[in-house]
Amino acid sequence: MGDKKPILEVKHLKKYFPVDAKHTLKAVDDVSFTIYEGETLGIVGESGCGKTTCGRTCIGVYEATSGEVLYKGKDINKMTAVERKEFTKKVQMIFQDPYSSLDPRMKVHDIIAEGMQIHKLVSSKAEEIKAVQSLLEQVGLNPEHASRYVHEFSGGQRQRIGIARALAVNPEFLMCDEPISALDVSVQAQVVNLLVKLQKERGLTCMFIAHDLSMVKHISDRVGVMYLGNLVELADSDVLYQHPLHPYTKALLSAIPVPDPDIERQRNQIRLEGEVPSPMNPPAGCHFCNRCSYAMEECSCQTPVMREVEPGHFVACHLYDEMK
Ligand SMILES: Nc1ncnc2c1ncn2[C@@H]1O[C@H](COP(=O)(O)OP(=O)(O)O)[C@@H](O)[C@H]1O
Ligand SMILES: [Mg+2]
Repeated sequence: MGDKKPILEVKHLKKYFPVDAKHTLKAVDDVSFTIYEGETLGIVGESGCGKTTCGRTCIGVYEATSGEVLYKGKDINKMTAVERKEFTKKVQMIFQDPYSSLDPRMKVHDIIAEGMQIHKLVSSKAEEIKAVQSLLEQVGLNPEHASRYVHEFSGGQRQRIGIARALAVNPEFLMCDEPISALDVSVQAQVVNLLVKLQKERGLTCMFIAHDLSMVKHISDRVGVMYLGNLVELADSDVLYQHPLHPYTKALLSAIPVPDPDIERQRNQIRLEGEVPSPMNPPAGCHFCNRCSYAMEECSCQTPVMREVEPGHFVACHLYDEMK
C-alpha cells in the first residue's frame, strides 16, 4: 500500500455469541485486515455471514471474544476514558435501517445536535442551530425541516438525517452497515452518491458493508469477501472483480449479470449449490468446502489461512497454497 497510513488494524478478531450451555455461534471467526486512511473498504457476503458483527466489533460496539483492533495504533480496548470518548466521536456509524435507528418522536434538530452537545462542539444555541441547518443542507435536506419530527420523513430522507447525525461530530471514520439495503431502489443511488461525495469532501475513511457486490465495486478502493465468519479474499476492487481467486468470490461475481452479451457468453458461470451452513456448526476445515466444486481432501480438515498471493491480493484457499 506504499505510503498509506493504517487507520484501523484488525488482528485475529473473533466474536462468538453464546447460544446455550453447549453451543456457541461463531459470528466472526479469526478475521484480520487493515483499513488505510482515506480509503473505502467494502465488505461483502451473504446475509448472516457476520458482516454486521464484524463491523460492530471493529468499532467497539461489541466486545471482541478475542483478537485486537487498533485505531491509529491504539488498542481500542485499552484506551483511557478520554481516548475512548475521542474514539467514539471520530468513529461514527450509519445504520442499515433508518427506521429503527432514529427515534421517530424526536425532532430532526435534536437528533443531529445530540452528538455536538455530548462532545461540546458548539458554545451557544445559535451556533448549534446554524450547524444543524448547514448539515441538513450538506445532506440535501431543507434546513427548515430541523423542527419536524423524524416520523414525517421517508426512508431515504431518514437515512440523510442519519448521515447528518454522524457528520455532526466531525468524524474521521464511517462504518456504513448496508446503508441503502432498506431503501427503495429508486433512492438507493442518491444516498450512495451522497455518501461518496461527503467522503471525498471530508477525506473520510469508510468501511462499507453490503451484500450486493455490484454496488460495492463502484464505491470501494478495496473489497473484502466474507463467508461464514471468515474473510476469504481481499484485494483492490478492480483486481477482485477482474481476477477473483477464491471460488466463493467467483461464484458471487458470476451471479451478477453483465450487460455486454459477448462478455456474458465468455463468462465462466459458477453455480452455488446448497445453503450457507449454520455458524453454530460450520464444516471442518474450509467453511466453504461443502459448496465448493474445487474442494480437495485437505479442504475438509485444514482451515486455509489468508495469504498474500500477489501484492495486496489476499486469499484463504488451499488452491493457492503452492503460490508464494
Ligand atoms: N447479538 C447476537 N446474538 C446472537 N447471535 C447473533 C447476534 N448478532 C448476530 N448473531 C448471529 O451471528 C451471525 C452473523 O450475523 P450478522 O453479523 O448480523 O451477519 P450479516 O450482517 O452478515 O447478515 C448470524 O448467524 C446471526 O444470527
Ligand atoms: Mg448485517
